[in-house]
Amino acid sequence: MTAFARAAVQLRGVGDVLVADIDNPPVNALSHAVRAGLIAALDRLEADETLSGLVIAARGRLFSAGADINEFNADIEPPFLGDVIERLETATKPVIAAIHGSALGGGLELAIACHGRIAADDAVFGLPEVKLGILPGAGGIVRLPRLVGIEQAVAMIAEGRRIDASEALTAGLIDRIATGDLIGEATEMVSAAVRSALPRTSERPFPLFDAAQQDATRKALAGRYRGQDAPQKAVDLLAMAARTPVAEALRLEQAACKALLSTDQSRALRHLFTAERDATRVAGVDRETAARPIDRVGIVGAGTMGRGIAVACLDAGLPVVLVGRSEASIEAARQAISKIYGSAVKRGRLSETAVEERLARLETTPVLDRLCEADLVIETIAEDPDAKRAVISAIDLIVPERTILVTNTSFLDIESLAQATERPGHFAGMHFFNPANVMKLVENVRTKRAAPDVLVTLMAFAKRLGKTAVMVGPSEGFVVNRMLSKRTREALFLLQEGATPRQIDRVLTDFGFPVGPLALADMAGLDVLAATRAARLAAMSERERGADIVERLVAAGRLGRKNGAGYYTYGDSRTPQPDPAVDTLLAAHRAERGIAARTVTDDEVRERCLFAIINEGAKLLEENAVARPGDIDVLWTKGLGFPAHLGGPMHYAETIGLSHVHSALSRYAGIVGDEYFKPARLIEQGAAGDGRFS
Ligand code: 3HC
Repeated sequence: MTAFARAAVQLRGVGDVLVADIDNPPVNALSHAVRAGLIAALDRLEADETLSGLVIAARGRLFSAGADINEFNADIEPPFLGDVIERLETATKPVIAAIHGSALGGGLELAIACHGRIAADDAVFGLPEVKLGILPGAGGIVRLPRLVGIEQAVAMIAEGRRIDASEALTAGLIDRIATGDLIGEATEMVSAAVRSALPRTSERPFPLFDAAQQDATRKALAGRYRGQDAPQKAVDLLAMAARTPVAEALRLEQAACKALLSTDQSRALRHLFTAERDATRVAGVDRETAARPIDRVGIVGAGTMGRGIAVACLDAGLPVVLVGRSEASIEAARQAISKIYGSAVKRGRLSETAVEERLARLETTPVLDRLCEADLVIETIAEDPDAKRAVISAIDLIVPERTILVTNTSFLDIESLAQATERPGHFAGMHFFNPANVMKLVENVRTKRAAPDVLVTLMAFAKRLGKTAVMVGPSEGFVVNRMLSKRTREALFLLQEGATPRQIDRVLTDFGFPVGPLALADMAGLDVLAATRAARLAAMSERERGADIVERLVAAGRLGRKNGAGYYTYGDSRTPQPDPAVDTLLAAHRAERGIAARTVTDDEVRERCLFAIINEGAKLLEENAVARPGDIDVLWTKGLGFPAHLGGPMHYAETIGLSHVHSALSRYAGIVGDEYFKPARLIEQGAAGDGRFS
């Protein structure tokens, strides 16, 4: 039997109105088949005298997510979206868009060229192109301001702001919100439009956008989107559209969008779009594997991490049983959680009622047996392997067979902890970052025997908590801390060699990080970092042990931001101020170690801090501690401030060239030491081969 592909645009008649349903799962992207289908619908509309007009609607969960991103890497085949849209706007019979779900990018451009728009009350509208490093290229820039004014257009085009149906109605983006049957009401709009002149969006006047407004907009966007080209280009194009006849403006808009597609920034942002979606999938696990339902969570350990995780779960609407060691510890936990919520109320983030509702879902108890109904239990006691094993065994005996048991750890050997349970298939790790209710990253840690659906469940669970999660393999420090520790090491070495805290931080913030590593250390607390160093001392090289700058700062009473002095001093403002006392301390440190300060160039600072990270990322890939280079990029851009328009450290390495990275690493191996900079095998191979991590 021959299987027929379903048409990407399906036509049906409702009375004398033709309805074209876009049907291109999963998101009704405007792929070639859809564009061709829309042209066919317009041909039929014009050819059939019995038809009074056309409604463009869609099947599935949304109207359209816009142009098909998968077509961006090759030459796009005609008919082009801009031409389809032009044809639609100039149709001689009314065309109405009936929007449900979302109308994004080209999907919205298509809708705003129609002669009228009606939307379901839960519809969302946006031009997210800028998040892919491009801009609307099918009339969004030329038409949108004519409907919604310049301010709203700037927010939507240059910042990717999305608006809901009621705001869209007020702004003039849509004409009606459907009260019942979306398609029925859209066909009524066709009948009404037949009796009046067809309103063409591009014939409306373009709003005022004078030079002063343009300057102010450019400045504001430059501050908000440091280093990103597309938001600035949006202002140029809006200014162009304000003074250029429509046909020419449409041509220039399309050309600008096409040119942006081949920029490094757009490639980087598109890489992240795909990487973020790939990262939600567990490598080696069938895509169809379903997550198990998690309706009740148990947390064992009522310390800082346990409390933070409890708040994250409560915020996600889950009932939580939090088990502490004693009545006193659970009382302290309750008070701490109330304090977190108290400050959320004070800052206007939550209402008293919302807090009450959350706290009503929280049970605190010293009794482990209360976990007997939990679908997922997270053990989060202190990082002591013996104590953890004992608690894991105790939980194992109490909870039902179906319960997934997770240990929250930042560095312990997960396989050895797995041996403490009789349910190795239902055991895995999660590494939450402190404070767990605030930090958006989670590393889920797979074990050899964890069942595929258990791993999928942990990914879904992290998503439900609003976290970006990546599945990592067992390895000390997992991915984030292992990579970060290399940057910290280099920052300390650079300080020893003659760089200053302000130079290192300036170089990395100029690169695009929101905060430099030393200002960040001050935020984390130097006493905390000194304790981490103390715990890792045995694993450190002699040079790393000797780079005891953090210990010296702490000994001098400089604990970081919390007491107003660390690598910097902090007056009343929270801005870090360079402090000559730190320069003196660094000079004394060098003198004691017999190190002669030298001039370290900004290039060396940048390369050593970044390439140390990239080299470690490559080693993690070699060890299978992380499945894809893109997973590392997601972690760094979502959680560690790596500039998204550079795509994450691994994508950045491929962009500047693995052979360049390789030769720089080899050079630094000569200066700093082979043990720190010997290029990873994957970098060596990539440099010699196709320039990619493969
Ligand atoms: N083209 C092709 N595929 C797309 C797509 C698009 N525009 N948007 C989403 N997809 C794919 C995703 O890659 C994913 O595929 P996968 O399952 O193989 O990984 C699948 O659709 C489902 O997407 P999500 O996992 O993101 O599903 P969600 O329900 O969470 O979100 C969404 C749906 C809100 C539509 C979200 O996908 C989104 O924001 N998409 C991007 C929309 C966008 O950027 N549009 C602008 C395109 S550029 C353009 O229109 C240019 C024009 O001006 C000429």
